[in-house]
Amino acid sequence: MKIAVVGCGHVGLVTGACLAQLGHQVIGADDDPQKIDVLLRGRVPIFEPHLDDLVSENMRRGRLRFTGDVAAASQDSDVIFICVGTPPLENGEADLSGIDKLARTVATQCRGHKLVVEKSTVPVRTGQELERILQVYGARSGFAHEVASNPEFLREGRAIEDFFHPDRIVIGASSEEARKTLEGLYRPILEQKFNCPVHSPCPQAPRPLLLATNIPTAELIKHASNSFLALKISYINALADLCEIFGADVTMLAEGMGSDRRIGRDFLRPGIGFGGFCLPKDIQAFVRLAERGGYDFALLREVEKINQRRIDHFVEKVRSALWVIADKQIAILGLAFKPDTDDIRFSPALAVISRLLEQKARLKVFDPKAMERTQPFFPQLTYCRDAYEAAEGSEALLLATEWEEFRSLDWSKIRDSMARPLLLDGRNFFVPKEMAALGFEYHSIGRPDTR
Ligand code: UGA
Repeated sequence: MKIAVVGCGHVGLVTGACLAQLGHQVIGADDDPQKIDVLLRGRVPIFEPHLDDLVSENMRRGRLRFTGDVAAASQDSDVIFICVGTPPLENGEADLSGIDKLARTVATQCRGHKLVVEKSTVPVRTGQELERILQVYGARSGFAHEVASNPEFLREGRAIEDFFHPDRIVIGASSEEARKTLEGLYRPILEQKFNCPVHSPCPQAPRPLLLATNIPTAELIKHASNSFLALKISYINALADLCEIFGADVTMLAEGMGSDRRIGRDFLRPGIGFGGFCLPKDIQAFVRLAERGGYDFALLREVEKINQRRIDHFVEKVRSALWVIADKQIAILGLAFKPDTDDIRFSPALAVISRLLEQKARLKVFDPKAMERTQPFFPQLTYCRDAYEAAEGSEALLLATEWEEFRSLDWSKIRDSMARPLLLDGRNFFVPKEMAALGFEYHSIGRPDTR
């Protein structure tokens, strides 16, 4: 199969590199010349564990190429994956102009038959619009097409593993032929005849479920899934607040709830809220979409509100511990919206930073991967070489992103170098008793404080 993957952001690069690894001929296309330039020089413009190896290996084997010419890449392929961005508009709806532009290019520039696959997260009925645009603009050029929806469920930081070991592969198609083509692309994964390049051999995992649906159902599955994950996080965060009021411990509460298989343990980690370029924007887009259909999705609006309040709640904890924030030197560990990524989009860590800067704090920060991306937005921060430099002389240390490497820091050294051994853990990353034993005044989320 010759495949074009249009849009070389996180989803496009992971999809393209992994499809190439399965043995398909893939061309990644993007109209951002800078991005293509970086890729052609053998570098990957984002940090995603194992992605650079996968890209370079498949480029070397001639299965993965890149181009800035979207039309040529589409012409030369049987299947076109749409992986262009759908960023939020000011009203929260998804901006679909990238998809519209691509559809017009494909329809006017391509001949023969193409399967056009939505991979980007899109509102329900995008497939219908895509079909219409391809029809209208392709009518004169002898272009035949089919549309399918094949949403991605890739977590940043774990995307390669998620691609090769999905829980499910959703194929929304209006024809048997389109479904079969996509199923064929994923067969090695569906039949587990493929080891993912991250683990060798791969741990035994249940076979992924293949779910063949119509296009609107596939589109809705994506938004419904991300919104449900967001709902779970806001639920545990609301419970964490209740725990603080009533002196309970949210960790044990989550354990007690999550051990019920119907509820499950995942996504019950309380903290400073969900961020990133998926959950916050998808939930907003889903609410707006429902509104358009005449449905007030009050449940999800509340999920969003609870998430926004996380930042105030945490900053208030900082204020209450420090009494006065103004002019205090505070260390922040973690800038990325979650560990194992350099992505800072809608990062709760940055929301906390903004709020502390408003209150005139002096901030020293460290993140293993996200400093370069943060610098242009927050030039006034002191960027440190490591956590030790950030902690030195600080009145408080805030953990905003739970990078695993923070666990093995020499916390006694950190305690001794701080002006005051005050640790505010925004991700419940540490065990309160252990931090208290080390001599920290320790505050976390939904758990009794220790001092
Ligand atoms: C999310 C979904 O998990 C993926 O399935 C989906 O494919 C992807 O969006 C997408 O739409 O492309 P991602 O944004 O990479 O993936 O990150 P998550 O692991 O879902 O975490 C999102 C946010 O929730 C992070 O800020 C994380 O710190 C926070 N979170 C997560 C919590 O606060 N508590 C939890 O228990 C879990």
